[in-house]
Amino acid sequence: MAVFHVLLNWASQALVFLVFLLFVAFLGYCLYIKHIHMKYDHIPGPPRDSFFFGHSPTVLRIMNSGEVVHDTFLQWAKTYGPVYRTNILHYVFLSVSCPEATKQMLMSPKYSKHKFPYKRLFNLFGQRFLGNGLVTAQDHEQWYKQRRIMDPAFSSLYLRGLMGAFNDRAEKLMSKLTDIADSKAETHMLNLMNCVTLDVIAKVAFGVDLDLLNNSSPFPKAIATCLKGMVYQVRDRMFEFKPQNWSFINEVREACHLLRKTGAKWIHERKTAMENGEDVPKDILSQIIKSAGQEENMTKEDEEFMLDNFVTFFIAGQETTANLLAFCTMELGRHPHVLEKVRQEVDDVIGMKQDISYDDLGRLIYLSQVLKETLRMFSTAPGTSRELPEDMVIAGIHIPGGCTCLFNSYVTGRLEKFFKDPLTFDPDRFHPDAPKPYYCYYPFALGPRSCLGQNFAQMEAKVVMAKLLQRFDFTLVPGQSFDILDTGTLRPKSGVLCSVRHRNH
Ligand code: HEM
Repeated sequence: MAVFHVLLNWASQALVFLVFLLFVAFLGYCLYIKHIHMKYDHIPGPPRDSFFFGHSPTVLRIMNSGEVVHDTFLQWAKTYGPVYRTNILHYVFLSVSCPEATKQMLMSPKYSKHKFPYKRLFNLFGQRFLGNGLVTAQDHEQWYKQRRIMDPAFSSLYLRGLMGAFNDRAEKLMSKLTDIADSKAETHMLNLMNCVTLDVIAKVAFGVDLDLLNNSSPFPKAIATCLKGMVYQVRDRMFEFKPQNWSFINEVREACHLLRKTGAKWIHERKTAMENGEDVPKDILSQIIKSAGQEENMTKEDEEFMLDNFVTFFIAGQETTANLLAFCTMELGRHPHVLEKVRQEVDDVIGMKQDISYDDLGRLIYLSQVLKETLRMFSTAPGTSRELPEDMVIAGIHIPGGCTCLFNSYVTGRLEKFFKDPLTFDPDRFHPDAPKPYYCYYPFALGPRSCLGQNFAQMEAKVVMAKLLQRFDFTLVPGQSFDILDTGTLRPKSGVLCSVRHRNH
């Protein structure tokens, strides 16, 4: 009994001590947050919602209401200037639209990507997702090694060779549109564009024929589910703890698993073909296999790493391009004079011929302008971030090191000081003789960590748009919204409902 008493006494003392320790730690943390606030509060910014959660309640409220959070960031950039501050807990985020600082930070390998969002995408709710693949790798050496291996699959020589595949997949879309035009049905362009870009990436990157316009497949839904999961994973830390979200979280895990399982199968098939001495393309899949190390000493981690890049290309290489194509169709539908002009160019350059050549793409100058202007207003992958390790001066304000800088191409694309009448869709802003935007237009990011697929995406988009304009008339079905849906990437909310007719040449 006495022993029990001693133990109880000891336990209660330990508990009191633990509570005291927790209290001291909490107090210490509060003081630390206060210290951080004092260190950075000279930088202008909107008022904080709370001492602890900083601006995150506002951001989460906007996100959950279905509004575009980037419009709030745009408003804040207009109100608080070229560098403004937001806080979450002890973290400080500086949204930078100052071109000089953008140049300095994005163009240099010295500033690494901010760890938090990319670490969060290693797994999606416990299921490995982008891992250490090309988009999420933070360690410079690890990233650089992958990028060097991957580069040949994106060289202009290699891309030239992909024209056949781009033409071929776009032709399948044209057949589908022919059926739609014959039946006088209305169609959601975004769905069709998603199918064609997924067909392209599967064929060009992995050598697989999906033909999604004619076959059903679980991939489009799996990708959409993963993208939705990504947004919650990055923006809402409490999401997975709320029971009402658990069934969705399971769906996300399954979708993620499906992509990785498919990757494992396709990689295995390719390796077998290589071992059998078959002639395999030097495509993205071959480079992924190369980047993982030698066959003899392949570890489980090497296998996982290959799947990281498989999923990375499946995700990065498809949806952003589909959204660009859908937004472009939407804007052409809303601006008949631009549509007329770009159609005239397509007629002049490719006339009635079926296959578009690499050289034709170079002659479709106004179409390039239209696509650039679409990405200015609808930056489908709107931002990137960099860590600031040491002090710097941005727009005349002293910025202490140790914070994160955010660069948002949706915001800079819509700031009046960079683009006059920013809400007017005007492809002539990108006329070859017009002055080039100075570090305020970067839909593919800039510098060493810029989009590896930039040229790939532009070629693909041009082939699809040129064929569409060559063969079809389309009008937007009245009454639909032209709003943006913010799902991490940006897409047209309405899905771009069109009626499509054959063109009378
Ligand atoms: C319109 C279409 C596209 C847009 C707007 C876009 C935009 C971007 C942006 C903004 C980044 C930087 C992301 C960050 O900093 O976290 C990025 C990175 C990347 N993108 Fe794209 N992208 C597009 C199409 C593609 C395509 C078609 C591919 C592949 C076939 C691709 C592959 C990649 C890869 C691998 C990276 C990571 C590059 C690195 O860090 O080395 N993207 N993209």
